[in-house]
Amino acid sequence: MAIIRSCRVEETPDAFRHLAWQVFFASRGRGVSLDAHFPWLRGGGYDDRSWLLEADKQPAAMLCTRRGTNSGVNFYAVGLVCTAPAFERRGFATWLLQAALEEIGSDVPVLLWTSQHAFYERFGFTLADPSVVATCTFPTSARTAAAIWQRNDWCAEDRYSSCFGGQRGLPTFVTELERWQSVWDPAASLVLRGGAMPIVLELAASEESVPALLSEIGVPLLMLNLPRPVPLIDRLRAAGVAIDARSTAIAMWRPGLIDCGALKSLDISLLDRF
Ligand SMILES: CC(C)(COP(=O)(O)OP(=O)(O)OC[C@H]1O[C@@H](n2cnc3c(N)ncnc32)[C@H](O)[C@@H]1OP(=O)(O)O)[C@@H](O)C(=O)NCCC(=O)NCCS
Repeated sequence: MAIIRSCRVEETPDAFRHLAWQVFFASRGRGVSLDAHFPWLRGGGYDDRSWLLEADKQPAAMLCTRRGTNSGVNFYAVGLVCTAPAFERRGFATWLLQAALEEIGSDVPVLLWTSQHAFYERFGFTLADPSVVATCTFPTSARTAAAIWQRNDWCAEDRYSSCFGGQRGLPTFVTELERWQSVWDPAASLVLRGGAMPIVLELAASEESVPALLSEIGVPLLMLNLPRPVPLIDRLRAAGVAIDARSTAIAMWRPGLIDCGALKSLDISLLDRF
């Protein structure tokens, strides 16, 4: 017998936390801990709920919904959608998602970030905001020592999510983050030191100063995550940086009740995605 229920995220039973850990981290040989990546599962967000499906008294499938706000747009996000391998292809994820979307209602836009586009298209999600991942190769002449950067631990302020309330954690593919602060510009970026190629997850700086700031990191290759295509890419190219940019996608559900332009203006950091 299978039953569905929903609860506040902080009430998610350990057996379901274990399921999420297994599916998204342990089975893929990555991750620090569920608390490090999804601290909001302990509560504190604006309105975060878990949807749980038990079959034969075992944790079979789950997902989470979060209420968010960004650039004046209220929306819901869906994530952590998973089914235990032994229970796949029985319609469980479909059942949970239908129940959660019904509860959210049809007025509010729903966003999610996934590579499993075909699964969500069946619910009317369509590809929307093209986020950009840009691999930047800096000319040899531009590389200097990283003397202008102060490296700091990721602080409490960095961990707060204005988008969802509560805490935000490490992206799934990351094990540590640092905040780097420029000593000559009030610019700051969060940088993952992922081997030889740092990944810039957030960047706050005036557009004109970015090429110089990035080249001062002093590595030949750097990965830049941008919420959407921005003139910055052209600016970097003009500064002699070779850019290989590709789009990733947000899926969007029932956009009819909000202005599409408003959706495109959303600037949701990669650190807020789940
Ligand atoms: C994706 C996932 C949640 C599907 O769970 P599930 O309970 O097996 O899904 P359902 O049984 O409700 O699937 C119903 C139908 O969706 C389709 N479907 C399932 N996974 C799909 C996918 N990845 N792409 C396209 N279609 C998919 C299938 O047509 C399936 O019906 P079928 O009986 O014809 O095979 C599960 O495979 C999983 O946990 N994967 C790992 C985690 C993950 O990738 N989560 C989603 C991204 S956040």
